[in-house]
Amino acid sequence: MQKASVLILAAGKGERMRSKLPKVLHPLGGRPILSYVLETSRSLKPASITVVVGHGADEVKKAVKDPRIRWVLQRRQRGTADAVRAAWEKCGSFRGPLYILCGDVPLLKAETLAKMREAFEKSAPALTLLTATLRNPIGYGRVIRNGTGRVSRIVEEREATDEERAVREINTGIYLVQAEEILAALKRIGPSAVRKEYYLTDLVGELAGEGRPVEAVAVEDPEECLGINSREELAAAEGRLQQRIRERWMRRGVSLRDPDSIWIGPDVVFEPDVLVHRGAILEGACRVGRGAEVLPYSVIESSRIGRGARIGPFSHLRPGSVVGDGAHVGNFVELKKANLKKGAKANHLSYLGDTVVGERTNIGAGTITCNYDGFKKHRTVLGRDVFVGSDVQFVAPVKVGRGAWIGAGTTVTRNVPSGALAVSRVEQRNMRGWVRKKRRMMER
Ligand code: UD1
Ligand code: CA
Repeated sequence: MQKASVLILAAGKGERMRSKLPKVLHPLGGRPILSYVLETSRSLKPASITVVVGHGADEVKKAVKDPRIRWVLQRRQRGTADAVRAAWEKCGSFRGPLYILCGDVPLLKAETLAKMREAFEKSAPALTLLTATLRNPIGYGRVIRNGTGRVSRIVEEREATDEERAVREINTGIYLVQAEEILAALKRIGPSAVRKEYYLTDLVGELAGEGRPVEAVAVEDPEECLGINSREELAAAEGRLQQRIRERWMRRGVSLRDPDSIWIGPDVVFEPDVLVHRGAILEGACRVGRGAEVLPYSVIESSRIGRGARIGPFSHLRPGSVVGDGAHVGNFVELKKANLKKGAKANHLSYLGDTVVGERTNIGAGTITCNYDGFKKHRTVLGRDVFVGSDVQFVAPVKVGRGAWIGAGTTVTRNVPSGALAVSRVEQRNMRGWVRKKRRMMER
């Protein structure tokens, strides 16, 4: 089978987002909307991927950074047909099967595109159109069929009659075309009646009008085709994406307690038998080992969690943290680029930044690493089997040898040799009868 090419339209401003950020860069699951369409495209192993950019073009290119993409600039956004024409002009002619995708339809699955290809191979039309039937089709182009049920054209909502608006079969904006066969029709598309835009959707009417075969393939799950034009639609897509991610991990042996309250980024990886409790947020590239438990309301960003480790409730793991097998991180503990080795524990109220905590080392409540001197970050390195009492400060850079003890309330400013006890504490004075004397003085 001939390799298909992919053309992605992503030049639009997305006025309804009311944002300085180009629409396709708005984050969905913590990643640009466009990145999903690209990921799906790459998984098809296409002959080439071309992306049409316009609004915020440089920003989009910078955010995506993929040397294999051919970028085409559409200077003025005069409609989707104009965007495709711009690609044709800049890239020379496309040949063979060509997917035309929208950069703002991120949940589309590769399997659906493969299904389109199957239909396309069977009946060899000039164009295969992906359609969906929606309960609420507002905002989408409607698919108009003739008396024999064949697709005859697409009408945009703005230009539709009341009768046409009642049609619930919509254009998803996803097409597979035989590139050589659409060029003439593409060139013929004129400006639309209301918006004076060049609509790619008119290609369907043009081809059908010439008696060229146009075919529709219905998507199984219409939510795949959610187009994002507004913040409400972005939120809806986010909800759907989360649902997908949660279902996927549950099927692979991860328990989620109160799944709807848990947020999991698309680049998080779990081993089986992990248990995640309500309100937990895992974002960025996280890895969570077998049997680990993430307790309620913990926030974990781009970190690695070992097997059987326990995080939370209310822990904050900032990027670059590593929690070893069986290690514990408890409530109100913040880690930043901290590496807790196997079996280490930091159970209460601590900040550990740029820190190595050796195997089995225990961090007392309220321990703080003072890792920043106002100019630079410095490291705190604790050996294994260290016992750190409560309310200790480590003024970095500082090292503690294995098996050392740090007394409660100590401010550690110098390295501690292994096996030593470090204490820095002002000696306590008890002034007998002091309270009674003070009272008398005040009452006089
Ligand atoms: C489009 C379709 C509509 C379909 C819907 C599905 C047209 C005219 N309408 O409508 O039938 O139901 O998608 O989501 O095609 N773009 C450019 N250059 C332009 C204009 C748009 O690159 O000049 C890009 C946009 O960045 C976007 C995509 O094309 O990624 C679709 O454009 P958008 O304005 O979102 O079209 P819709 O109104 O959603
Ligand atoms: Ca859209």
